[in-house]
Amino acid sequence: QTVELELEAIEKGGYEHFMLKEIYEQPRSVADCMRGRVNADSGLLVLGGLRDYVDKLAKTKRIVIVACGTSWHAGLVAEYIFEELARINVEVEYASEFRYRNPIIKEGDFVIAISQSGETADTLAAIELAKSKGATIIGVCNVVGSSIPRATHAGAYTHAGPEIGVASTKAFTAQVTVLAMMAIAVARKKGTLHEDTFRRLLFELERIPSKIETVLKTDEKIKEIAAQFKDSRNFIYLGRGYNFPVALEGALKLKEISYIHAEGYPAAEMKHGPIALIDEEMPVVFIATKDSSYEKVVSNIQEVKARKGKVIAIVTEGDKLIPTMADYTIEIPAMHEALIPLVATIPLQLLSYHIAVLRGCNVDQPRNLAKSVTVE
Ligand code: G6P
Repeated sequence: QTVELELEAIEKGGYEHFMLKEIYEQPRSVADCMRGRVNADSGLLVLGGLRDYVDKLAKTKRIVIVACGTSWHAGLVAEYIFEELARINVEVEYASEFRYRNPIIKEGDFVIAISQSGETADTLAAIELAKSKGATIIGVCNVVGSSIPRATHAGAYTHAGPEIGVASTKAFTAQVTVLAMMAIAVARKKGTLHEDTFRRLLFELERIPSKIETVLKTDEKIKEIAAQFKDSRNFIYLGRGYNFPVALEGALKLKEISYIHAEGYPAAEMKHGPIALIDEEMPVVFIATKDSSYEKVVSNIQEVKARKGKVIAIVTEGDKLIPTMADYTIEIPAMHEALIPLVATIPLQLLSYHIAVLRGCNVDQPRNLAKSVTVE
């Protein structure tokens, strides 16, 4: 027993929980994910496992993404990136829904299956179904040699290293990194990406690990914010565009480990329902970075403040306006809009972590949840 506990302490590398260790590993795991694949100086972008498929992906009319949980959120980010950069029609499906509703899949369609464990039963079944209908299946998995990569035609591993905490953190950022690299490679092949933008995106990708590092330095401030809200019963997370999936992921992280009810919504949908919930007891987390939806999100923040909601805003460094409106702000560095989810997710992971710890929850093994769901 003592030996086991000591071993676990060593594995946690000085951190109190695996989840915190894994959050802090992200500058390295994202860099590992790009190692040998991206080099901005020489204009290199290669995904070895997809060498023969980038061409075919550039010609396809339709990509269907299947996944569950946090991996499904990575799929939503990928939808925005693929559509914007490569102009390919992308649909993102919960694997469990896809597999049971006689989905329309034709020869020539591509299915991208995203899974940290590579063992999720619904995702595996969705792959088998799509394969039987003639689709080409690409896997984006973390665990090497697991069932999903073995069932796919090709794929790219995320190389985030083992993830022990049940709530997924570093696997998510690695998934988004791989999917962004894929979308950029396909867009370039297809000719929908200007060479300058291509170079700029590679350059920006290379800088993501140091930007994550910068955000991790705001941890103390996030902990203070967590202390203010640890007894809240509900949370709303709002974002638009690329930050809508970030809002969903932030809300999922909070409910998974702190058992506080949380909902993620596209910020503009607030007026169609969630606004009715807002009063002085309701914390609303806005992902309000300087991007193409900035002005609109600012109005959404005003709407929440007018109803006395408490606003916690993730903003771009140097933002002067939102700090005058929000109750709390957390800054993240500026970057290309398509890559913001890679960095904006980090403070939300930390916020849920600290809230869960302050509430005395078992963050690494939350009740009723499993790390990998191998049954329906
Ligand atoms: C479980 C885990 C989640 C994970 C989901 C999908 O619910 O608790 O963290 O996102 O399964 O898992 P996968 O391994 O397919 O990414």
